[in-house]
Amino acid sequence: MISVAIDGPAGAGKSTIARAAAQALGFLYVDTGALYRAIGLAVRRSGKDPADGEAVCGCLPSIRLELGYEDGVQQVYLNGENVSAAIRTPEASMDASSVSAVPAVREFLLERQREIARQNNVVMDGRDIGTVVLPNAQIKIFLTASPEERARRRYEELRAKGEDTAPEEVLKDVMQRDYNDTHRAVSPLRQAEGAVLADTTGKTLEEAIELMLGIIRAGLEEAEQ
Ligand code: DC
Repeated sequence: MISVAIDGPAGAGKSTIARAAAQALGFLYVDTGALYRAIGLAVRRSGKDPADGEAVCGCLPSIRLELGYEDGVQQVYLNGENVSAAIRTPEASMDASSVSAVPAVREFLLERQREIARQNNVVMDGRDIGTVVLPNAQIKIFLTASPEERARRRYEELRAKGEDTAPEEVLKDVMQRDYNDTHRAVSPLRQAEGAVLADTTGKTLEEAIELMLGIIRAGLEEAEQ
């Protein structure tokens, strides 16, 4: 099986770009952030604080997560309920960031992410895919863009969904999440050894997808030799 590991900060366009690349290659696209988001949502719904590690651990035994695909689009199910839309709010983003710092949560998700990659050719996107989840991935990419550009993209996404948020709030959120994701004790976000750096600042979506596909195809050729 072939694994393409894509890591990078929030809002770098990872999911859109990785999904398009997976489709072009005929690989399964796995958005691992959705799993952390679903856990954050479960904790929030149970009335507990997602930033309280002990409370989060207490919730884990009653959480059942499944991934499915509808028309090639990943869906995440929390105890049987499709929560793919509910996990996309700004609050759910923050809650995901909080629970992702809890070691037991990362442990809870580790084996199921590896299992998917054992069964399928994958493009898997997250924060620790090349460093921790799939350290032997044939291709590793660290996808990034400047914080301002990432905030602008996220703001436009939220507006398109009818969410009423101020641009400066979105930039603050992006910077806060960057800080959380790179400073947590377990599996902090960092460029994996052997990962190719792809910076999409100033690139159109099409250009970013081309950049990504170019890196993956070069990596596949190298892996075959
Ligand atoms: O990619 P995203 O915004 O959907 O991720 C949501 C949160 O989950 C983000 O704050 C970082 C965390 N995450 C993680 O720690 N490890 C992953 N492999 C994927 C996401």
